[in-house]
Amino acid sequence: MEKIKVNLKENSYDILIGNGLLENIENIIDNNSKRNFIITDKNVDALYGNYLGALKNYEKIIIEPGEQSKSMDVTADILKQMLVKGASRKSKIITFGGGVVGDLGGFCSAIYMRGIPFIQIPTTLLAQVDSSVGGKTGINLLHYKNSVGAFHQPTKVIIDTALSQTLPYRERLSGIGEIIKYGIIYDYKFFEYVVENIERIKKCDENIMPHVIKRCCEIKADIVSQDEKEGGLRKILNFGHTFGHALEGITDFSKYSHGEAVIIGMYCETIIAKKLGMIDEKYAEEILSFLSNLGMNLNISNYSIAELVDWMSKDKKNIGGKISFVLPTEKGTVKERLFEKSEILHLCSE
Ligand SMILES: NC(=O)c1ccc[n+]([C@@H]2O[C@H](COP(=O)([O-])OP(=O)(O)OC[C@H]3O[C@@H](n4cnc5c(N)ncnc54)[C@H](O)[C@@H]3O)[C@@H](O)[C@H]2O)c1
Ligand SMILES: [Zn+2]
Repeated sequence: MEKIKVNLKENSYDILIGNGLLENIENIIDNNSKRNFIITDKNVDALYGNYLGALKNYEKIIIEPGEQSKSMDVTADILKQMLVKGASRKSKIITFGGGVVGDLGGFCSAIYMRGIPFIQIPTTLLAQVDSSVGGKTGINLLHYKNSVGAFHQPTKVIIDTALSQTLPYRERLSGIGEIIKYGIIYDYKFFEYVVENIERIKKCDENIMPHVIKRCCEIKADIVSQDEKEGGLRKILNFGHTFGHALEGITDFSKYSHGEAVIIGMYCETIIAKKLGMIDEKYAEEILSFLSNLGMNLNISNYSIAELVDWMSKDKKNIGGKISFVLPTEKGTVKERLFEKSEILHLCSE
């Protein structure tokens, strides 16, 4: 088992990574206190519900799978169930699922009686390399993604790398989007490693996934430890996300998974960096050809650029009415640039 520490003073915690970790869950999670809850979704429960069976003092709350569950209604429903079942300020929550369960369950634990502890057990590749680490929790309101939420760090993250075996290809691809992002924003050597091993990563090859997931968590832990609440450095994690979030919005969060939208986002944002002369042409080609070869349709010409830019201008990352973009520059480095709406329109229609 590998252990990575996320250093956040009194909010510090460990990420445990290993193949088959859940088989010994009772040795990892304290099961003595009463009235604790596992929040999971129907798919994960059907596949892996038994794995947490050893935790006798945890009661399950099972939600519908999918982004629509990140809502006020489902939040209220979970909180009501916890209240009725006698959860106290000493109760704990385990979130057992993908990013939806993690964000929603994490948010419930952030606000229940002003905050109770929670443990993340991420089950999708995207959640294992990204959403379970860093303490961003939240839900969607109207069409605004993650518009209501809280920073609330988990007390532990437990990653069993065996779980990705049952993920459909699109969900793996979604994780791969965030995986390659870490290489581009922080570690060019890791970028090269992912490019070289992409076929094995697509298959979630058990021999390399622990290493891949560990490196992603190390990078995220490193960034979050330096900037917990996104005052500066943490913004680099948003590479691909300005376009990505706009694409998710314009398609009503139903056409692309989060990571797929980020893949297209990184593609478009690398082209913007190229147009602005911020990135070496050869390096830009490396990124673009990797993204084009993932087997996704990257063409977004059927969406109106003006409408996409409208979505971008609603993004909470923006500053002073300008749209924030994180763009690749040197190998393993990115830089934030702010643009007027008109500048982006101009750049995209050239
Ligand atoms: N908090 C953060 O920092 C952060 C970062 C990135 C993304 N997110 C959020 O994460 C969410 C997306 O998460 P996601 O991509 O994990 O989606 P998801 O939670 O919807 O899971 C995708 C699907 O896979 C199923 N599933 C989960 N584990 C499985 C397994 N092991 N085998 C088979 N099927 C499995 C789920 O039931 C679901 O149908 C978005 O809401 C996004 O906003 C949050
Ligand atoms: Zn993301």
